[in-house]
Amino acid sequence: MSEAPRPARLAVLVSGTGTNLAALLAAIDEDPAFGAEVVVVGTDRPGAGGLDHARAADVATVEVALADHVDRRAWEDELIARLAEHEPDVVVLAGFMRLLSGTFLARWPDRVINTHPSLLPAFRGASAVGDALAYGVKVTGSTVHLVDEEVDHGPIIAQRAVEVRDDDTEASLHERIKAIEHELLPRCVKLLSRGQVAVEGRHVRILEASK
Ligand code: GRF
Repeated sequence: MSEAPRPARLAVLVSGTGTNLAALLAAIDEDPAFGAEVVVVGTDRPGAGGLDHARAADVATVEVALADHVDRRAWEDELIARLAEHEPDVVVLAGFMRLLSGTFLARWPDRVINTHPSLLPAFRGASAVGDALAYGVKVTGSTVHLVDEEVDHGPIIAQRAVEVRDDDTEASLHERIKAIEHELLPRCVKLLSRGQVAVEGRHVRILEASK
């Protein structure tokens, strides 16, 4: 009988409240076949609420603020080094609000995954929910994708639509999108962790689970 592969080691980066991190931790906890463990949570915002979820789960935390570094390059080098100490296989951006350069991405090729609160390629950028509402679209949603050097642009792993209601505020719409993200991000992290994500240019194919 062949041995089960070791669980993939996940680094999760957060800038905010970390509800997506909490959903991922819960999904891993509930699913013995998930095939991954969170080994470190990093942030660019010391004191970010997401760190509380990490501490509650006994996961190591790494805080690297841009303001403490001479430039973005020095900040990113430090972030890479501090994450690398935990030897992650996959990096999950769960509400991480800073761009990562090719240097970071080359360290974990096709292994950096992001959740974005719109149906890409519509409404890229940091104000996706407000922009969708202001545009008057009737449907927006959630996209989980691999990260490349362009903002909210890499190959799409999965998307799900959310209807916009006439009386939506940015907060109410974002809440419904987050409820979807909380299912979609863990599902995609599981697929990536188990080697079921095949990337061909912009196209992602989901491979059958090996028996
Ligand atoms: C999510 O909607 C994510 O898509 C966006 O920022 C939000 C983060 O939420 N980039 P949380 O910190 O996981 O609660």
